Amino acid sequence: MTIYLNGHYMPIEDAKISVLDRGFIFGDGVYEVIPVYSRKAFRLPEHLKRLQHSLDGIKLANPHSDAEWTGLIGELIARNAAEDQYLYLHITRGVAKRDHAFPNPPVTPTVFMMSSPLLTPPAELLHSGIACVTAPDNRWLRCDIKAIALLPNVLLRQMAVDAGCAETILIRDNSFMTEGAASNIFVVKNGKLLAPPKDNLMLPGITYDVVLELAAANGIPHEVRRIAVAEVFDADELLLTSSTKEVLAITRLDGKPVGAGKPGALFARLHALYQDFKRDVMRAA
Ligand code: PDD
Repeated sequence: MTIYLNGHYMPIEDAKISVLDRGFIFGDGVYEVIPVYSRKAFRLPEHLKRLQHSLDGIKLANPHSDAEWTGLIGELIARNAAEDQYLYLHITRGVAKRDHAFPNPPVTPTVFMMSSPLLTPPAELLHSGIACVTAPDNRWLRCDIKAIALLPNVLLRQMAVDAGCAETILIRDNSFMTEGAASNIFVVKNGKLLAPPKDNLMLPGITYDVVLELAAANGIPHEVRRIAVAEVFDADELLLTSSTKEVLAITRLDGKPVGAGKPGALFARLHALYQDFKRDVMRAA
């Protein structure tokens, strides 16, 4: 596995950073996850825009122009074997004496990228759907920043694992649903797809955008608005999206069946549309 660290490509075993890196000490950095299909980075401009939004959110200057990122990412893809990859980009505020305040003058940010083979969900999971739990969303108020400080998300995801489930659906203020610990969540009721709004309380998913675009282009009724917790428990279907999971049906929630307890009609439709889109658009030259 060839990775990129601060201007150099190298085997992952050779990659070293300082223990004083602010990413290590404070979780002071941001990241991106970009799927690559047939060696083409999917929606790279959109991912780089979200990266810029995250960097602006933590007041860190972007170390590269979009043209530079595109070149570096292309080289990383070329140096790794898989046709379908997922790229992890990670930028921290750099190495400095431990002090909460930003280093002044600023230091050089640490830039790390790695590629892993992209493994999409196996057929069994598409047929069975996944089980989820709910939990209070106890994260901060800037969930739109893709911050590397993921301890709340880690603890929330582990709650699902401890319950033998795949993901935790987050409920803000005992009132409305935001997203999953590492995914976006959609509700289906009476044939309509409901999505929470892209605000400061959720990560604006690139897959979320694709699903809403596919719904719009194919005449599937949809609405973007706050989703009350009662609507989550009363849903006909629940769907989960992310770059690595694509679209999955959630068929059990807190130990009870969702709707009919098996993947529903809108899941089947959107999953098929997503696969067509992948073949015709994402993989296309
Ligand atoms: N996570 N919400 C959260 C909190 C996420 O961490 C993610 C993705 C998403 C979905 O975004 P996208 O569709 O752009 O992948 C929503 C990535 C996959 C991760 O942290 O590994």
